[in-house]
Amino acid sequence: MRSAIVSCALIAGVVVAQQLTDDTVAKVKANLATAAKQSWELGTRAQALLELDNSPLSVFTPGSIPPPFSKANTTALQDVLSIAQNAVSKLNKDNTPRPLDAGAGGDPPSMGIAVLLANASGGANATDYAQAAQNQLAFVLDKLPRSSDGAISHRAEQVQLWADFIYMTPPFIAYYGAITNNKTLIDTAYTQCSLYRDHLRDKKNSVWMHMALGSGYNDAGLWATGNGWAAAGMLRVLATMAQSSFAGDFKGEMSDLEHWVTEILDGMYSKLDKSSLLFPNYINQDGAFDDGSSTALIAAATYRLSLLRSVHHHLPDAERVRKGLVARVDSDGWLAPVVDPESFAKQGTHSPEGQAFILLMHSAWRDWVADGSQGANGGPAIVVPPPKGVVAVLALGQIAWLVGRRVGLPVAR
Ligand SMILES: *[C@@H]1O[C@H](CO)[C@@H](O)[C@H](O)[C@H]1NC(C)=O
Ligand SMILES: *[C@@H]1O[C@H](CO)[C@@H](O)[C@H](O)[C@H]1NC(C)=O
Ligand SMILES: *[C@@H]1O[C@H](CO)[C@@H](O)[C@H](O)[C@H]1NC(C)=O
Ligand SMILES: *[C@@H]1O[C@H](CO)[C@@H](O)[C@H](O)[C@H]1NC(C)=O
Repeated sequence: MRSAIVSCALIAGVVVAQQLTDDTVAKVKANLATAAKQSWELGTRAQALLELDNSPLSVFTPGSIPPPFSKANTTALQDVLSIAQNAVSKLNKDNTPRPLDAGAGGDPPSMGIAVLLANASGGANATDYAQAAQNQLAFVLDKLPRSSDGAISHRAEQVQLWADFIYMTPPFIAYYGAITNNKTLIDTAYTQCSLYRDHLRDKKNSVWMHMALGSGYNDAGLWATGNGWAAAGMLRVLATMAQSSFAGDFKGEMSDLEHWVTEILDGMYSKLDKSSLLFPNYINQDGAFDDGSSTALIAAATYRLSLLRSVHHHLPDAERVRKGLVARVDSDGWLAPVVDPESFAKQGTHSPEGQAFILLMHSAWRDWVADGSQGANGGPAIVVPPPKGVVAVLALGQIAWLVGRRVGLPVAR
């Protein structure tokens, strides 16, 4: 039986591509460059480029704070610095202390890390970059309205919390704090994640709603991409804490963030469509189409969580999902099917954020392979004691896993 499984895997390995080729990655990257226009798309692109081409400068790499520019790929870094330059030149044009770009208040800060890197790199106009970053931070902390318990609104005109915020703003606040040695700011980033979880978490399904409070968009649905934003954003905050000079003071906070990410991954993977190997665009919604964007971001988060915190139990899921997505990037370097990023309930054709998520997944997977592919064969590796009620379920899962492993079956549910 075991030999039959092995030869199947070998045959599959020959027939089906198991990873993106360098050529495909280059096409995905080029498409992302032309498609990303909105502030959050540019910020996400900057992060994807750092993780892909300049991992020494990415918060997921130990020693990345303060940024070690001597280890940077300076050619590739130009793309990130150009994002900062464009953002800051917009600020200079009307010369007002507004955030780096208009739009939803919580989106422009996603470009802030590129701006902080532009300042730290000490190139031309460094003062402009430092000033723009400072203005952006002040706007977020002092100008955006807040909920009664202190959650910073994603929208400027009213208090409304979007899961997207977690990828756009707390990583910037945390990074600002880490490179200026300001512990309060790192703590603020953590507190915002905590408050957003309080408002957005759907306990029953162990995933987040897209939005809470306010009016207008009012999307209380369990949007798959929103869960990706939340999980991946909290991991960036966690990683930034770990690379900061205050890592020793934030042990409890880091373990909370680990738990909150795990919670989302548990909920999401339980809703994976087992034939398409994609998540539905909305969890628990009849007729929701399958979405490749969110699937790529959740897979990226799974590898990052494994690397950062040795939580490996969704690795077999991530591996299956990743291989499925490799086949869904076409020969021109576009991922499909994808949600329309500006119309959450509609299927789109090309998605800038979906392109970035493929790069994030690819980079996280590459780093995970370099680290020895921990957990590739499955098995829970819970390092934090789960809440009481969950222990019995986990124990059963563990037995099922051991049994599955003994007889050489795939361990998927
Ligand atoms: C630096 O990045 C560029 C653009 O991504 C790439 O073509 C080049 O091979 C990289 N250089 C090194 C030394 O990795
Ligand atoms: C900008 O860079 C300078 C020089 O590295 C540094 O001292 C300063 O803290 C930076 N400012 C910000 C806001 O990161
Ligand atoms: C520096 O700022 C000036 C004036 O805003 C602008 O014309 C120039 O392009 C900037 N240079 C760089 C390298 O960003
Ligand atoms: C940390 O940042 C906050 C917000 O900008 C600021 O008010 C505070 O003075 C800073 N603390 C230190 C120690 O620099």
